[in-house]
Amino acid sequence: MANNITISQAAQYLGQEVTISGWVYNKTGKGKLHFIMVRDGTGVIQVVIFKGNVTEEAFEKCAALTQESSIRITGVISEDLRAKGGHELQAKEVEVLNIAPEYPISPKEHGIEFLMDNRHLWLRSSKQHAILKIRHEIIKASRDYFDNLGFTLVDAPIFTPSACEGTSNLFETDYFDTKAYLTQSGQLYMEAAAMAFGKVYCFGPTFRAEKSKTRRHLTEFWMIEPEVAFFDLQQDMDLAEGMIIYIVDRVLEKRRQELEILERDVSKLEAVKTPFPRIHYDEAVKLIKAENPEFIDGDDLGGTDETIVSSHFDRPVMITHYPAAVKAFYMKRSAQQPDRALCVDVLAPEGYGEIIGGGQREDDLEILLSRIREHNLPQEAFNWYLDLRKYGTVPHAGFGMGIERTVAWICGRPHIRETIPFPRTMYRLTP
Ligand code: 4AD
Ligand code: MG
Repeated sequence: MANNITISQAAQYLGQEVTISGWVYNKTGKGKLHFIMVRDGTGVIQVVIFKGNVTEEAFEKCAALTQESSIRITGVISEDLRAKGGHELQAKEVEVLNIAPEYPISPKEHGIEFLMDNRHLWLRSSKQHAILKIRHEIIKASRDYFDNLGFTLVDAPIFTPSACEGTSNLFETDYFDTKAYLTQSGQLYMEAAAMAFGKVYCFGPTFRAEKSKTRRHLTEFWMIEPEVAFFDLQQDMDLAEGMIIYIVDRVLEKRRQELEILERDVSKLEAVKTPFPRIHYDEAVKLIKAENPEFIDGDDLGGTDETIVSSHFDRPVMITHYPAAVKAFYMKRSAQQPDRALCVDVLAPEGYGEIIGGGQREDDLEILLSRIREHNLPQEAFNWYLDLRKYGTVPHAGFGMGIERTVAWICGRPHIRETIPFPRTMYRLTP
């Protein structure tokens, strides 16, 4: 029995008999020869089928192969510098598993709605494949970063009794004879966990009923959220900066090939070095007003405002001290500027917008209670959260990084919908 190998392993099996299983990507040849490009998710290899080397029946079947037909081939790996990947497989046995009908996705240009309707097939295309490989690397790198620093992964629930990031975009669902909300953020639970473990993070899906149809918003997106006891805003920013550098370095180290497939200008990623600029909200407003005089001081930043600010820097920029009025109830205020939150938003370069939001949390019981009232939030739902300020309250801070926006930036994709396997937006629940 020949070894079952993946195409990515072909170089290790030069001159040996192996079995490769995959899908037909392309087919050429004439007369006594078929050249079949086969992909298996790890790479592409040219399979050479010479009439005399396989059974008559197998040779005939190969003539009928279409794009995305599935096959298993046993043969010998040989070197061929002309072939993609540098190797080819000289077939001895071919098993055709399925002859696919005409494949709907061809190299011609398709509209985005068509491609999204066929997302379950589109994932096989080289660019989509490259994006999801990079997504995998970014998730792995961010988890490695925290694991190496001694953080504990603590999973947050998906069904929640209350809002974390404001009530306007909550997804409500029936929960037996009461209501539940799909989580907007694991943060509040990470605050509880930080008081138990010190340094924690969660990684999971989060949900927001975003009615905006922008290139930066999904209704279901994934977030990695660290939380650390005894951290202040500065330490929180150092942690975020270190994580971004770690992720970018890892992708540059391990996913060059995928970045190339995406035609990503890697010099832009190579420029991402410490220190990241850290600017006060008021400074950001000055930059914005120079280009957008309409901007009202005190407002939250819109997508175009973020692009204006980020265009001044060649690396991510951190904006702190937003007006507390535009931020969530749990944010601690600045002692020097009581109307400002001790918060940070990290904007990606090249106009990709906010990828991280976080900051220091209010740790005083009475102040937190009054914030919950000011925000018209139901106090009963937060009693457990208030307990964290009763039993050994300490300064603490954390942040959340949106995976899809980070993938969009690193891959250089203009729209967030290609950065998640099966995107969910206001207008899309299928496939
Ligand atoms: O700034 P946000 O709302 O912060 C929080 O949820 C905090 N509770 C996190 C924390 O401190 N633990 O969201 C954090 C990040 C954003 O910077 C963005 O990258 C992403 O989550 N994000 C979205 N990504 C895609 N679609 C959406 N609708 C998003 N909303 C937020
Ligand atoms: Mg935010």
